[in-house]
Amino acid sequence: MSRRWTLVTGASSGIGRELARLFAADGDNLILLARREDRLLELEQELEAAHGIDVRTLDVDLADPAAPEAVFNWTVEQGIAVHTLVNNAGFGARGRFATLPADLLDEMVRVNVSAVTGLSRMFLPGMLERGEGGILNVASMAAFQAGPYMGVYFATKSYVLSISEAIHEETLGRGVTISVLCPGPVATEFAEVADIEGSRLFKNARDVKSVALDGYRGYRAGRLIVIPGIFNQLGIFFSRFAPRAMTRKISGKLHRVGA
Ligand SMILES: NC(=O)c1ccc[n+]([C@@H]2O[C@H](COP(=O)([O-])OP(=O)(O)OC[C@H]3O[C@@H](n4cnc5c(N)ncnc54)[C@H](OP(=O)(O)O)[C@@H]3O)[C@@H](O)[C@H]2O)c1
Repeated sequence: MSRRWTLVTGASSGIGRELARLFAADGDNLILLARREDRLLELEQELEAAHGIDVRTLDVDLADPAAPEAVFNWTVEQGIAVHTLVNNAGFGARGRFATLPADLLDEMVRVNVSAVTGLSRMFLPGMLERGEGGILNVASMAAFQAGPYMGVYFATKSYVLSISEAIHEETLGRGVTISVLCPGPVATEFAEVADIEGSRLFKNARDVKSVALDGYRGYRAGRLIVIPGIFNQLGIFFSRFAPRAMTRKISGKLHRVGA
């Protein structure tokens, strides 16, 4: 039996690396994508040895607007039909919108939004033609409200949630699964990259393995929105009844930086 191929972006650390391990344990061949190739090669060795699968690595910067098409063309050249696309790569930055570097914000939109859109648009038609496979996007609990002092990050994650819901609706009954994982704070390199390590939000950050497992199981079960943790689920449920002015104020208090 030929094995399925799963492409995981941001597989060099955190949630992406754990998701890659879960797909590998299930017998999928893997394409691991990120910029830090040394880490990808380490993971490739680990997963090939542990599961006897075929693993390829792609050292790609998803901030490059040409990346999605280049990645898709590479899979065509390799004769690989991607069964599952995991759009996990992403990053945040804490600071005031007016003072965070404009090029950093632009890069964030290109990685968190444009690459997710481009890769999904490239790979989805093949999945629909074959009537199988799907896309697991990684958004965040940040997707559900505005986030003062991390405004662009929150907005990018709202986009990921929204586009996931839309594609899910458009493809119902076509044999593909669209899922979107929306974690709260998770213990990965994210907080350091986003300069939010000291935030009280991250004092009770969830374990990365359990978050990835929730996402993996949710996707395999065909669930659209996956929120790890009962308290996070309740928080999102009740936040629907709160005015947006209130949720954005609370969010701003949690991320506030000095003048
Ligand atoms: N940790 C949290 O609290 C949390 C909560 C909710 C949602 N999330 C989301 O979860 C996803 C994974 O984050 P994480 O927590 O696992 O953080 P992480 O440990 O920092 O991992 C981020 C991954 O994204 C990759 N990446 C970043 N920029 C890239 C680029 N330009 N091109 C290619 N790959 C790039 C990184 O690889 P390289 O640096 O090697 O390129 C890395 O593998 C993100 O979308 C994040 O927004 C995280």
